[in-house]
Amino acid sequence: DNPEIAILKDYHREAAELYHHILVNTQLGEEALEYLHHRGLTDELIAEFQIGYAPANKLLLPFFDEHQPDYQKLRKSGLFVERQDGQLSDRFRSRVMFPIRNAAGQVIAFSGRLLQKNDQQPKYLNSPETEIFNKRDVLFNFDKAKNSVRTEKSLVLFEGFMDVLAAYRAGVKNGVASMGTSLTEQQVYTLARVSKNVSLCYDGDEPGQKATKRALELLAATGRFNLSVISLPEKLDPDEYVGKYGAEKFVTHVHDSLESELAFYLRYYQQGRNLDNENDQLAYIEDVLKKIAQSNDAIERDLYLNRLAQRFQLDKLTLENQLKELRATGA
Ligand code: CTP
Ligand code: MN
Ligand code: MN
Ligand code: MN
Ligand code: MN
Repeated sequence: DNPEIAILKDYHREAAELYHHILVNTQLGEEALEYLHHRGLTDELIAEFQIGYAPANKLLLPFFDEHQPDYQKLRKSGLFVERQDGQLSDRFRSRVMFPIRNAAGQVIAFSGRLLQKNDQQPKYLNSPETEIFNKRDVLFNFDKAKNSVRTEKSLVLFEGFMDVLAAYRAGVKNGVASMGTSLTEQQVYTLARVSKNVSLCYDGDEPGQKATKRALELLAATGRFNLSVISLPEKLDPDEYVGKYGAEKFVTHVHDSLESELAFYLRYYQQGRNLDNENDQLAYIEDVLKKIAQSNDAIERDLYLNRLAQRFQLDKLTLENQLKELRATGA
């Protein structure tokens, strides 16, 4: 690293240590620690991920001040906001702090969560883009997950930090999450470097299902992955699932309820449609056929064509012709 980058990383390492210390050793962190315990995070996990707390009052500036900081660089760190008079002030206040690490495990940013949701502020606040943090590149927990991929032979994508942590606690350590944005090309590229098998385990609610479809399309376009989907019932997210059904059931679910891409689309395209209605039925069959046409596995195509034919009592030959046409035009 050049000296400038090294200093920014130093600030982040020190800030992570300080936030963590505040959370686990001081009275300022008591309420936040109670909150995390209540959400099922153990002290070991809190230590392993170096989770911390940013108190309501000034913390970082007085701390860095003693170390004779370079104000130019502090400004660039993203850890502060600049007031009108040019004074720096802690960006993160009254938030549980999740350190965000690069692939080498160095802290390069933070995401801070409010203890209670409110309407004035976002639930999660991320560091701004800096010289060391580009949120489109980063995957939370990638530094640890990339090692677990060797034994698990797969990687799981989650929506949120708390989902990654809940899964980790349950023993599913090969999970990562994007930074509150939908999956990017850069992240897909990063994933491709470490794992061919990728499972999507997004929230069971509607936004989660939409995000699943979008991520599947992005991943599938590279032609480099074996993709599967882990769907959760009752609109639960993985963290809520672990809370409701327990870690053991979650692990079983992750291993045994893998849906293929096509199985996901069969379900997905049913949403908001009444398949007893002829128009809805036709639209559904068309959507599904398009997805079947995109599969490069002849056996899989045949399998799903049979299912469609049976389910809607269609002539398989008609479907096959339609499929050929779709494959020829690449629609
Ligand atoms: N997110 C965000 N800002 C928000 C809401 C969400 O950046 N105001 C991002 C976070 O990265 C979050 C992810 O989107 O982890 C998924 O959002 P959501 O499902 O609403 O949050 P959860 O991960 O379930 O968070 P929690 O369980 O802590 O409520
Ligand atoms: Mn407690
Ligand atoms: Mn969600
Ligand atoms: Mn969620
Ligand atoms: Mn959640």
